[in-house]
Amino acid sequence: MKKVNIKGKAANVYVYSDHNELYRAAADQVISRLVAKPDLLLGLATGSTPVPLYDILVEKNKEGIIDFANVNTYNLDEYYPIARKDPNSFVQFMHDNLFDKINLPAENIHIPNAEAPDADAEAIRYERELEKTGGVDIQVLGIGSDGHIGFNEPCDSYIYPTHQVTLTKETISDNSRFFDSEDEVPKHAITMGMGAIMRAKKCILIATGKNKAQAVKNALVDDASPNCPASILQFHRDVDFYLDEDAASLIF
Ligand code: F6R
Repeated sequence: MKKVNIKGKAANVYVYSDHNELYRAAADQVISRLVAKPDLLLGLATGSTPVPLYDILVEKNKEGIIDFANVNTYNLDEYYPIARKDPNSFVQFMHDNLFDKINLPAENIHIPNAEAPDADAEAIRYERELEKTGGVDIQVLGIGSDGHIGFNEPCDSYIYPTHQVTLTKETISDNSRFFDSEDEVPKHAITMGMGAIMRAKKCILIATGKNKAQAVKNALVDDASPNCPASILQFHRDVDFYLDEDAASLIF
């Protein structure tokens, strides 16, 4: 592991040649907080990136090292509209990869409801739920190849509340790998905005692979700009980036 200092930027940046080591280090951030605070408020992401981290959390839960009985989870986003039981819904993804494998009570799961009749009203409802927490204790983040976090897509200004978003062509193309064809990828989503992400007491962003290298550079090294939504993390008080060598290849 190499700790990298980016001139003038506060983020902790860790670069790993070994994926297991990367995920153990990221998981330790969650595990240590959960051991210290059994009623942890845990912000979660979907996509390929966090899956190895969730595997470690499942393993530690099975070993009795961590207990989810009093944890509340808050997911970043969900496609809209999509049925809960659709194999590509994020709620189904979370059940398959984490929730059904740990002792997390169903009522402690928070995620935008993509079956709600009105997306804007659902976004407001979810934002109220997030506001009530005062900020999660730790937020797990991935990053899109276009620099999105959650589904906050590149645009002219950072958007703070939970909102409905139209996905970019790049995101639709990236996510088409989970679907039979690109046409089947939902075109809209409900996402936590920058407000709730920035209220998190700690953020950990994980990025692996060459296709994330440009987004990571834009987020970490360049001037912060809503063209790269993840760059808002330059203003976060406590953020760690866990990168493999490919994802970090443009930051040096
Ligand atoms: C999903 C989310 C997204 C993903 C990003 C990367 O909840 O928050 O921002 O983290 O699209 O996706 P993967 O990990 O599949 O490359």
